[in-house]
Amino acid sequence: MRIGLLTSGGDCPGLNAVIRSTVLHGIKSYGDEFVGFKAGWRGVIEADYVELTRHDVRGLSRKGGTILGTSRTHPYNHPGGGPENMAKQLKRHDIDAVIAIGGEGTLAGAKRLADEGIPVVGVPKTIDNDLKATDYTFGFDTAISIATDAMDRLRTTGESHHRCMVSEVMGRHVGWIALHSGMAAGAHAILIPEQTVDVDQVCEWVEQVHSRGRSPLVVVAEGFIPEGSEAALAGKGQEADGRPRLGGIGEFITAQIEERTGIETRNTTLGHIQRGGNPTGYDRVLGTRFGMKALDLVHEKAWGHMASLRGTEIVKVDLAEALDGLKEVPAERYEEAKVLFGR
Ligand code: F6P
Repeated sequence: MRIGLLTSGGDCPGLNAVIRSTVLHGIKSYGDEFVGFKAGWRGVIEADYVELTRHDVRGLSRKGGTILGTSRTHPYNHPGGGPENMAKQLKRHDIDAVIAIGGEGTLAGAKRLADEGIPVVGVPKTIDNDLKATDYTFGFDTAISIATDAMDRLRTTGESHHRCMVSEVMGRHVGWIALHSGMAAGAHAILIPEQTVDVDQVCEWVEQVHSRGRSPLVVVAEGFIPEGSEAALAGKGQEADGRPRLGGIGEFITAQIEERTGIETRNTTLGHIQRGGNPTGYDRVLGTRFGMKALDLVHEKAWGHMASLRGTEIVKVDLAEALDGLKEVPAERYEEAKVLFGR
């Protein structure tokens, strides 16, 4: 078969590991040929692609980012988008199937296209870990490791000045990155979108820690909704796909803590650092296994399905299952972490 790969949505460490394993598995096990579409769905719509040989994927699993480039191009709304044109392009260029590697937005597009006859399977990726039907997505472990390292650093400078340090992390509308990096760094308060916590409670935790001579660390997810607000702070406009660009809650909480407690407080927004650099060993292995499974799904003609992690097994799931809402942090996982907040 001749198979096209694309990476779409925000980049994330582990994408290149998927590309490498898919191509190597296809060449070695099935005698397949591969092309890589450039910049997500745009590459399919405009037939902008490169041939991918064994040589092109050499040494790729350790590299961050994506060699194909990515974009938030919508597969339907982009000029020339939609299944009819895509089917024509695939036929014209002798491409038998598409493997779409992406998060919620990308996989929703893949599902719709599969329903309309395009031979496409998915690979779930996101640092946010918000996709249902898979226990983990690659990129998450790397983001946790980067954020934890950053928070360790914030703690040494915080302790030297006896300040409260706030760290805003990514995660969109779920708190997985905040919960895991905050737990790993021993944070004294973790604020996530799924749980309402009032600022007085945060200040109480901060004061308890400060009064015993420690430097409090508060981790806040970008999607956390402050008391009295109906939505997360999103003063940076919209992403290309129309979703709000979240951010600003770290500064907001910092100002509130300083004003209400009188404790000198500093915010650090970790931002895109969390998505940059080389993937961890865990993410390289997960990406590699997902890529191999996706290729098997193509040979099964399991259009509209994706590779997924269940426990330690890589399995096939329907994209519809993955897109049935967001995978939120369960209340009991937050309660578990909360035991260690404050004093
Ligand atoms: O979905 C991944 C993610 O990094 C989110 O955590 C974040 O809100 C968003 O993408 C940022 O998007 P962009 O790279 O377009 O600024």
